[in-house]
Amino acid sequence: MANIIGAVTTSHIPAIANAMANKQEDTPYWKPFFDGYPPVRKWLNEKQPDVIVLFYNDHGLEFFIDKKPTFAIGVADEYHNSDEGWGIATIPPVTGESELSWHIANSLVEDGFDMTICQEMKVDHGLTVPLSLMWPGNNYGHVKVIPVCINCEQHPMPQPWRCFELGKAIGKAIESYDEDISVAIFGTGGLSHQLDGERAGIINREFDLECMDKLVSDPEALTKYSNLELVEIGGAQTVELNMWIAMRGALRGKVTELHRNYHAPISNTGSGVLLLEHEMPSK
Ligand code: DHB
Ligand code: FE
Repeated sequence: MANIIGAVTTSHIPAIANAMANKQEDTPYWKPFFDGYPPVRKWLNEKQPDVIVLFYNDHGLEFFIDKKPTFAIGVADEYHNSDEGWGIATIPPVTGESELSWHIANSLVEDGFDMTICQEMKVDHGLTVPLSLMWPGNNYGHVKVIPVCINCEQHPMPQPWRCFELGKAIGKAIESYDEDISVAIFGTGGLSHQLDGERAGIINREFDLECMDKLVSDPEALTKYSNLELVEIGGAQTVELNMWIAMRGALRGKVTELHRNYHAPISNTGSGVLLLEHEMPSK
């Protein structure tokens, strides 16, 4: 049986990849941010999860505003990134896991989640920056990644409660997979931020820290927010919290917080990292 061993959350700001490419991790600006990651990298190296199910949002690379799936899942053997620019080197492809992806896709549709199923899919910084962060030097090729994409760009967007339900259904699908593999769940994006418009640059540190607490101990509390409330509280892109909420929905058993870091601002964002260990419930 597939075993969900834990979860990681992180922001996915493109400037992170640029800072790594230019070896700026130890500069005064970046150090408090990058100091949050060694414990997570160590845990991933020790535990060696076979598969990462990664919740992210596509910012316009694969799904532009003319065609916007509410929820999409990749079922490919490989994914390529082609956004960003910055003049930095092209990153290697991301390895997929089509068999488990199809298992999850089938199970989700049976459970009433009408996924867009992608046999081909370009992936943007929402997926690749977290992988580059966890495996410096872009050494993530050995780990199989299943992309699950949630619309956070174009209204109407799925609400936090619905994203939590999606996470639960994905957890159930993973638990019912009959192979002896270990799985970690990633939730990327967030926390409070707004990139453009009158309130560009808004950050709500108090709310971000409360979200991190609630995500561990009382995730249902976060499902009571509407997307419009999240926008009011923390700015337009705070809706990316939905990826963290979906991640938490997949964890049905005992959750232990092993590590956290919060630093703001990095670029325009309140940036949080959480490492959660998960013990599967006995049947
Ligand atoms: C930034 C944050 C994001 O979530 C994103 O997708 C792009 C940019 C930022 O703060 O720069
Ligand atoms: Fe984003």
